[in-house]
Amino acid sequence: MDLNKIYEELKILKENAYTPYSNFNVSCIIYLKNGKQIKGVNVENAAYNPGICAERAALPQMITQGYNKDDVDVVALYTDSEGFGSPCGTCRQTLIELLYPEQKMLIFNKHEFIGEYTVGYFLPNGFTNNNLTNK
Ligand code: THU
Repeated sequence: MDLNKIYEELKILKENAYTPYSNFNVSCIIYLKNGKQIKGVNVENAAYNPGICAERAALPQMITQGYNKDDVDVVALYTDSEGFGSPCGTCRQTLIELLYPEQKMLIFNKHEFIGEYTVGYFLPNGFTNNNLTNK
C-alpha cells in the first residue's frame, strides 16, 4: 500500500463532497483486492438529517456492486479534521455490520496520515447479528 498515493486519491475525492453547511469534507475509499475502488463523500442537506457520511455513501455501493467484506483490502478515510479524523457512531455501526472487525482502516486528516486502525478498534463489543437473539 502506497500511503502517499492513497492520501492523494482521498484529497482529490474529498473535493467532490457536498458540504455547504459544515464545510467539513470527508472522503472514503474502499480498496478492493481486485484493484477496484469504491468511493464515497459526505453529502449534506438543508434539512440536515438526510445528510450522509462518506463511509455510508461508500459501503452500500460496495454491496450494490456485488462485493462484500471478503473482497476488501483496505478502507481509507480522510476528514478535514485538524486532529484525529474519527468515524461517527452511526458509521461505526455500519462498518461493523459490513466489514470484519479485523479489517484494516487507514485514517488521514487535513495535514497527514494519522495511523492504521481496525474496524473493531472503532467499535469494540458492537451490536451484531450474534446479539440478535432473544434466546
Ligand atoms: N462526517 C462523515 O462524512 N463521516 C464521519 O464519520 C464523520 C462526519 C460528515 C458528516 C457531515 O457532513 C460533516 O462530516 C460534519 O459532521
